[in-house]
Amino acid sequence: DWTMESLVDSAVAQIKSQVGDERVLCALSGGVDSSVAAALVHRAIGHQLTAVFVDHGLLRKGESEAVMGTLGEQLGIDVVRVHASTRFMDKLAGVSEPEQKRKIIGTEFIRAFEAESERLGPFRYLVQGTLYTDIIESGTATAATIKSHHNVGGLPEDMTFEIIEPLKELFKDEVRELGQVLGLPADLVWRQPFPGPGLAIRVIGEVTEEKLHVVRETDAILRDEIAKAGLERDVWQYFTVLPGIQSVGVMGDERTYAQTIAIRAVASTEGMTADWARIPFDVLERISTRMVNEVPEVNRVVYDITSKPPATIEWE
Ligand code: XMP
Repeated sequence: DWTMESLVDSAVAQIKSQVGDERVLCALSGGVDSSVAAALVHRAIGHQLTAVFVDHGLLRKGESEAVMGTLGEQLGIDVVRVHASTRFMDKLAGVSEPEQKRKIIGTEFIRAFEAESERLGPFRYLVQGTLYTDIIESGTATAATIKSHHNVGGLPEDMTFEIIEPLKELFKDEVRELGQVLGLPADLVWRQPFPGPGLAIRVIGEVTEEKLHVVRETDAILRDEIAKAGLERDVWQYFTVLPGIQSVGVMGDERTYAQTIAIRAVASTEGMTADWARIPFDVLERISTRMVNEVPEVNRVVYDITSKPPATIEWE
């Protein structure tokens, strides 16, 4: 009789016997896969596991605190957070080309992770949140690269670890179930996909703290209203984009000349294709009103009604 509990038991036993009394490292991104993998390994070996969480300053509102609170305080995992925002922002200064932004973020992530693991190490093992689907996908040849899709959870190529992949036989829905069995909260387990480069690819062009602030605040409003409308699990991915267009508006008797925010919300199963989500007009109306009222930099909100293809989900 196969249950998730028995899977946990056998995985725990397997990890224990593999690891012995060696030390194990993992990278946390705040995403489902790395969180569940960390929670499972922690269940097996406790404080022999050290989790490194590189906070690149490109996360959504409240996300960094949520990682520390849930995985650190609640589950008791030894999480070391690296505040690397300044370092990332310095490298991103003056850069506006999307692939270049991705590349810089990927490289900096690896550097920060490497430095931290050297400081805290040595470690014999590294945990990876690889899923069954990841293995299948990387085995098939894909067409020309549209975007490099750098996954910030990726590991440094020249680091010498033995790899532990406790999720490699599971599909995404099984990973979510496993996460719940391990005591992870529903909002983490059902978290929408979030790209490794984070909000940096939702600020079109050069990234600045001011622009990140506008994307972060409008994204928080969008997520809040989607949750209140009970649409969280119906809409596959939803976020805001700052195209960097100023337009004329009127607030009270005053002329405004401020930023436009685009809402992107899609229905999809795995992100390869997507349809724009039919969010009810009354929900969109509340979102728009709140964004303009609560975020002074914004005076116009538009809704992206293109599907993928021909558009992609992210704007960059
Ligand atoms: P696109 O924009 O290519 O996105 O239609 C498809 C899915 O992939 C996510 N995405 C990324 N994920 N690193 C990631 O880890 C990236 O550089 C990246 N770019 C896009 C996107 O959020 C969507 O879920």
